[in-house]
Amino acid sequence: MILGIETSCDETAAALVTRDGELAASVVASQAELHARFGGVVPEIASRHHLELIDAVIDEALRRAGLTLEGIELVAATQGPGLVGALLVGLSAAKALAAARELPFAAVDHLQGHVAANFVRGDGGPFEPPFVCLIASGGHTLLAHVRSHDGFEVVGSTLDDAAGEAFDKGARMLGLGYPGGAALEALAAGGDQTAFAFPGSPAERARGRSPSRAAFAEGLDFSFAGVKTALLYALRELPEAERQERAADLAASYQAAIVESLLGRTARALEASGLGRLAVGGGVAANGELRRRLGGLEVPLHVPERALCTDNAAMIASAARFAERLEYPRYLALDAYASGERG
Ligand code: KG4
Ligand code: ZN
Repeated sequence: MILGIETSCDETAAALVTRDGELAASVVASQAELHARFGGVVPEIASRHHLELIDAVIDEALRRAGLTLEGIELVAATQGPGLVGALLVGLSAAKALAAARELPFAAVDHLQGHVAANFVRGDGGPFEPPFVCLIASGGHTLLAHVRSHDGFEVVGSTLDDAAGEAFDKGARMLGLGYPGGAALEALAAGGDQTAFAFPGSPAERARGRSPSRAAFAEGLDFSFAGVKTALLYALRELPEAERQERAADLAASYQAAIVESLLGRTARALEASGLGRLAVGGGVAANGELRRRLGGLEVPLHVPERALCTDNAAMIASAARFAERLEYPRYLALDAYASGERG
C-alpha cells in the first residue's frame, strides 16, 4: 500500500493506492474559498493551512481505507513544481512518517502525477502509455508525449499564463468570482462564440489572420496573453449598458479562443507524434466545450474522473508505483523545487 501526499498549491491531499494501482482512498481539502477573497492563492496562507490540515487529511484517508500507518509500505510526496512553502509541508510530513518506520520514500514530480492519474484503476482506467497528454490547470498548461509509465517528454508549454489562469482572469474581468472557469463556462452557454473575433478563435480565423500569427500557430507552445488583452479592450470599448447585455457573447467568444488554442495544438501534437491516443488532465478538463471538441478528434480519448483531474494525492501515489524508491535515510535531505527540473 502506497501513501501519497500532495500540497503543491492550495489543496491539502492524501491518498492510498495499492501497488497494482487500485485506489483505496483519496481525501482532498481545498482551501479555494479561503483564497477567493484575494482573487488568487496567497502562498503564505496556503502553507499555514496545509500545516493545520495535513494530519487530519492523512488520518481521514487511512480511516476511509480501513488502515493504520502499519499498513503502509511506501510513502510518496510531491517534491515540485509548486509553491515551495506549501510543498515543504507535505514533503516534511511524508518524510517524517516514512522515517519513523524506516520505510522507503518516493519523491514525485507534480506533472508526472497529473500524467499518472491515467494509470489509476477503476472508472475507465487504467489508460496505459503510449499516448499524448494535455494537462491544463490553473498552474500549468502543457502537451507531453508519454511513452512509458515513469516519464514524459514536454513538446509544448505555455509562454505566459496557464489555460485555467486565462479562464480565471477572463472571469474576473467579466465580474465572476474566483476561480472563475466554471462560472465563465456557464455564462458562455447562453452566448454566441462568433460574436467577437478574439485572437486564436475560429471567428478570427474565418476573418483571415496575419502571417505572423499563422507562423506562431504552427508551434506547440501556448500563449493566452493576446486573448486576455483582447477581452480587456473589448470590455473597455463597450458602453456600460452593453457590457452586461453582451457578457454571454464575450464569455462564449473568449472560451472559444482558449479551447481552439488547446485543441489545435493537441491535434498537431497527435499528428506529429504518431501516438494516436490522447489523455487529458487538470481542472480545465472539466470544461464541456473542450471535452466536446476533443471528442471530435477521433482518437481514443481518456479523461480521468474529475476528482483525479484536479489536484489530488491519488495521482502522486499512482506515479510513485513507477518512481525511484529511496531507502531510509537517503531521502531525509530532499528539498522542494519551485519550477523546472528536480533539484
Ligand atoms: O487542476 P486544478 O483544480 O488546480 C490547479 O490549478 O492545479 O485547476 C483549476 C483551474 C482553475 O483555473 C479553474 O478556473 C479551471 O481549472 N476550471 C475550469 C473549469 N473548471 C475548473 N476552466 C474552464 N471550464 C471549467 N468548467
Ligand atoms: Zn496540478
